Amino acid sequence: MLTLNMFDLVLGFAKVVDLVNATLANHHRRVAYIAGALGDLLNLDRLSRNRLVMAAMVHDVGVIPLHALTDSLVFEKDMERHSLAGWLLLDSCQVFRDEAKIIRYHHSSWQRILTLPEEERFPARLGNLVHLSDAIDVHVRTHFHPDNLVREISAGAGSIYSPEVAGAAVELVSRPGFLNNLSEASNSFWLPPGPELIIHEDRVALFALLFARVIDARSPFTATHSSGVAHSARFLYELAGLPDRNRPAIFVAGLLHDIGKMGVPLELLEKQGPLEPDEFRQVSRHALLSYEVLSDIPGFEKVAPWGAWHHERLNGRGYPQGLKADEIPLESRLMAVADVLTALSEDRPYRAGLSNDQVLSIMDRMVDEGALDGDVLALVHDHIEETFEVGRRARALAKRFFQRLGRDIAEATARAKTGLKAPEAVIVLENGKKS
Ligand SMILES: [Fe+2]
Ligand SMILES: [Fe+2]
Ligand SMILES: [Fe+2]
Repeated sequence: MLTLNMFDLVLGFAKVVDLVNATLANHHRRVAYIAGALGDLLNLDRLSRNRLVMAAMVHDVGVIPLHALTDSLVFEKDMERHSLAGWLLLDSCQVFRDEAKIIRYHHSSWQRILTLPEEERFPARLGNLVHLSDAIDVHVRTHFHPDNLVREISAGAGSIYSPEVAGAAVELVSRPGFLNNLSEASNSFWLPPGPELIIHEDRVALFALLFARVIDARSPFTATHSSGVAHSARFLYELAGLPDRNRPAIFVAGLLHDIGKMGVPLELLEKQGPLEPDEFRQVSRHALLSYEVLSDIPGFEKVAPWGAWHHERLNGRGYPQGLKADEIPLESRLMAVADVLTALSEDRPYRAGLSNDQVLSIMDRMVDEGALDGDVLALVHDHIEETFEVGRRARALAKRFFQRLGRDIAEATARAKTGLKAPEAVIVLENGKKS
C-alpha cells in the first residue's frame, strides 16, 4: 500500500523546482514557512493553513511551462502570466484545486481582489498572503534591511496587501530573530501528518501525474516522456505477472523517474547533437538526484529505487551507482526497458522518433551487451503491438494536455490583460475526457 504525508511529497517536489536556479535555493520552502507563520498569526483554521502552506510550497511552478525559469524565478517579470499558468497547471489535478486557486492570485493586488466575486475572495485572500510572504523572502535575499521591509509592507497595506495581512506581516518580521533565523527555521519546517494530509495510492498517483507534467513541461522534447514511461512500465509489470498491490508504486515510480532532470540545465536537455563528456556527467546526475529526492520521501521506499535506477545496467556500466545484475530489482529493470523504449520512440532535438522495428533492434543489441534484461525485453517481443500502443496512447494524451494548457494560458493571459474575467480551467483527465 502506497501511503504518505502529502506535505512530504510536495516538499520533495518543491526542492526540485528550486533546483532550476541556484538563486532560488529553498525559495519555496521559505515562502511556505513565512506563509504558515502568518496563517498562525491570523488564526487561520487548520485546513486553510495547510492549503496555504501547500500552495506556497509550489507557488511559482507556473514559470516552468512558460520557459521563463532559467534566469529568474524570483524576479520573473510577467507576474500575472505565471500565476495563471500555475493555476491552470495545478488545477488539472483533482487533488490540488484549492491550492491552484490560491496560486492564481499570488501576485494580485488587494485592490483587485476586492473586485472579485464573493466565492473567489477567500482563496484570493490566501493568495495575497503568499504574495506578501514571497515579497518578504525576496527582500531578505536581496536587501536585508528590516526597517525598509517594514516600511514597504506598511506602504502596500490596503493597496497591494490586505491591511490585516500587512499588519500581521509587520508584527512577524519585527519579532526578534525572525528574519535572521529564516533559513534555519524554514529548513526544519514541516507539517505533521494530520488525517487530512495522509494520502493513499490513487491520490498519490494523481499528485505524481501532476508533478510528471511539470517535469515534462520544461521542454517540448520531454513533454510526453514521463507519462510514456509510467504507462509502459505498468504494462510490463502486469505482463510479468507481478503482484497487484504494487501496481500503483510502479506507475508512480515511472511518473517520477526523471524528477532529477529538474536539476539539469535546459540547454543540455535540448542540445542538438552529442554531449561533451562534462555535459554528459551533468545530465547523468539526474538519476542520482531522482534517487535523493524520492528516497527522502517517507513511504517511497519502493518507488525510489524502482524509479531512480532506470539507468542502471545489468553489466554494471550504468549509473548512478553502477549496480550489478543481482543488485538491480526486477522492477528497476522493467523501468529501464520502459525508459529506453519510450525514449527511442519519441522525437528528439537531433532525430525523429524511431519505428517499432528500429527500437526493438537497438534494444536487442542492448540485451546482447548485457545492459538490459532479456527476459523483460522478451515480454515486449511477445506483445509488440500492445506494448507500443500503450506507450503511444499515453504520449498522445500527454501531448494533448500540453497543447490545451498552452491555449488555456494564452487565453487566460489575454483576458486578464483586457480586464475580462479569466476563463475557468479546462481539465484534461487521464482518460482524455474534459471535466
Ligand atoms: Fe510568483
Ligand atoms: Fe516566488
Ligand atoms: Fe533518465
